[in-house]
Amino acid sequence: MARSVSILGSTGSIGRSTIALMEAAAPGEFRIEALVANRDVATLAAQAVRYGARQAVVADPSAYGALKAALAGQGIALGAGPDAVVEAAARPADWTMAAIVGAAGLRSTLAALSRGGTLALANKESLVCAADLVLAAAAAGGATLLPVDSEHNAVFQCLMGCAPEAVEKVILTASGGPFRDWPLERMARVTPDQALKHPVWSMGAKISIDSATMMNKGLEVIEAARLFGLPPDRIEVLVHPQSAVHGMVQYADGSLLAQMGTPDMRTPIAHALAWPARMAADIPRLDLAALARLDFLAPDPIRFPALRLAREALMAGGGAPTILNAANETAVALFLERRLGFLDIATVVEETLSALPACRPDGLDAIVALDHAARAEALRQAEARAATV
Ligand SMILES: NC(=O)c1ccc[n+]([C@@H]2O[C@H](COP(=O)([O-])OP(=O)(O)OC[C@H]3O[C@@H](n4cnc5c(N)ncnc54)[C@H](OP(=O)(O)O)[C@@H]3O)[C@@H](O)[C@H]2O)c1
Repeated sequence: MARSVSILGSTGSIGRSTIALMEAAAPGEFRIEALVANRDVATLAAQAVRYGARQAVVADPSAYGALKAALAGQGIALGAGPDAVVEAAARPADWTMAAIVGAAGLRSTLAALSRGGTLALANKESLVCAADLVLAAAAAGGATLLPVDSEHNAVFQCLMGCAPEAVEKVILTASGGPFRDWPLERMARVTPDQALKHPVWSMGAKISIDSATMMNKGLEVIEAARLFGLPPDRIEVLVHPQSAVHGMVQYADGSLLAQMGTPDMRTPIAHALAWPARMAADIPRLDLAALARLDFLAPDPIRFPALRLAREALMAGGGAPTILNAANETAVALFLERRLGFLDIATVVEETLSALPACRPDGLDAIVALDHAARAEALRQAEARAATV
């Protein structure tokens, strides 16, 4: 029988890669239950028709009219608005891809976990801003939570079958982004177009900027701590420009296990789609002889302060990771709108963390309230910076 699959964020980079893998699988292996996007109606409607989705939902209510027109007479259930997104995530499905970008994906991630099945988690921000809720929902729903972020998927693969107490540390690799070797003075003038051009990975806009500031790696340190139950000092980050090694696990006996592959998100997605088996995937293989060398170096804490901020937020605990994430999403959006400088992204995050008390938010409503307060504070900080320029 075909496995039913829902894709939350189907029109994005991860969503499209997920669909491409399913399309290449044997006919009848998968069927699509629900597809969710924000407002890209043209792509969503084309996907829904081509793959026979039972439901298609847009988060932005103003896109509903266009969706209705595009899918008229197709017999596909339609929905719009944030509550419809959560309802789509809650529909029974064997496997769900959580690939909405940002904390906007939190409620649907929780809904999918609460009804059980397998959740492939790309939406790292939901884990960063509400780890306790996400892990509790997975436990309560009896869901299997599989990491799709390439580094966490790599660590997950290296951990297979080994006792956690035997793990000394995990190592997350970072490409270093487009400005790995740039001096600070030059980084101060970075434009959105430059920051969106990642040298190795092809990704959506927000994660591309996070990679350029290295906040992405900071979010991933928090994600790893929560997913694998490790303290911050047992999670190391190494810059690895070739992006061939995605993650490593150092064991107590001195063994260092690494997962390698070409920098292509279809590999970790395929791993999560087929888990615990493996599926064939037509992805370029790593040519080690052509690669010839692997470099690893420590990240520069001066030019990339975001990594330190994320570690500090993780150690502070309570609401600090929620504040960090919300402030970062706000600052990245302002940078993309050319209303904030590149180096100001980390400064705004740091100032927002200093300005707000990081009390532990109790439950979803408190997390959403803290997220909103952090966004408002980050906007204030960014406007204050703009006023002084
Ligand atoms: N791309 C990668 O290589 C990669 C790697 C590791 C982890 N991730 C993580 O995966 C997630 C998705 O990344 P991406 O690069 O695929 O992003 P993306 O290309 O920007 O796609 C984002 C998806 O989320 C949808 N969306 C945006 N806001 C929404 C909202 N409020 N409600 C419902 N849907 C919404 C978008 O719909 P529209 O198209 O209609 O706007 C789109 O389908 C992020 O959390 C990212 O950190 C990505």
